[in-house]
Amino acid sequence: MRALVDGQPADAIGIDDRGLAYGDGLFETLAVQAGRPCLWDRHLARLASGCRRLGLACPDAEVLRDEAMMLARGHARAVLKITLTRTGRGRGYRPAPDAGVRRMLAISAWPPPRDGDAGVAVRLCHTVCGLSPVLAGLKHLGRLEQVLARAEWDDPDVPEGLMLDPLGAVVEATQANLFLERQGRLVTPRLDAAGVAGVVRGLAMDLAAAAGEPVREDRVVLEDVRSAQALYLTNSLIGVWRVARFEGREYDLSRPVHPVMARTVERAYGP
Ligand SMILES: Cc1ncc(COP(=O)(O)O)c(C=O)c1O
Repeated sequence: MRALVDGQPADAIGIDDRGLAYGDGLFETLAVQAGRPCLWDRHLARLASGCRRLGLACPDAEVLRDEAMMLARGHARAVLKITLTRTGRGRGYRPAPDAGVRRMLAISAWPPPRDGDAGVAVRLCHTVCGLSPVLAGLKHLGRLEQVLARAEWDDPDVPEGLMLDPLGAVVEATQANLFLERQGRLVTPRLDAAGVAGVVRGLAMDLAAAAGEPVREDRVVLEDVRSAQALYLTNSLIGVWRVARFEGREYDLSRPVHPVMARTVERAYGP
């Protein structure tokens, strides 16, 4: 079985789905390790908080867990995607007062590995992230900015690109969050007007706070990126990547990984 729609094996949904029509929904992408979805509670918490913000009925946590476990079982490594869309018939943006939620869970192959410690090359995207405080932080289905940004290049040696907002602040990478190391301290862009508040970003911030050196959320501009001692990218599949190069600037990979980032890697594929 590769996918479940509302608990039933399926690989298709109707053309009237509001996720398709309006991007009216949310998604989570989880790593599966040794038959179990990783960072489950964190993904579920983001889903629940996204549902609250969008006025979506969040599916029962136990139902989601059972379905996720059923799909993950037997997979040494895989990717689990959970998508929620608002149900409702008829045309028009207005959600039906009795709208429910459709849940889709699908499992797919683990992407080819890349050695994050070896450092990756990152470019600057021309496509900007629009400012939208209403949607900022959410992992909603409207990801056209990322699609356009990722379509800008086709070099397998450059797996990521940084995106700016229209005012010139760095938001994140196309599918990962950004951390900068400055004088041994970690800084990450504020996500109050754009960007996705990643689960691994949250993990790193919690680990940093627990270690008594909280990550600073700040406005970050390109000059900060260029002058940083180190850059890290985080997401649920890659864990943490060190950045080796950004637009001609080389980062010194002989420096030790920041301890919080090292701990984040250790925990990223855990329960
Ligand atoms: C645009 C964007 N930002 C950040 C992330 C990182 O999120 P997470 O750590 O939850 O995987 C992702 C993940 O796919 C993403 O698509």
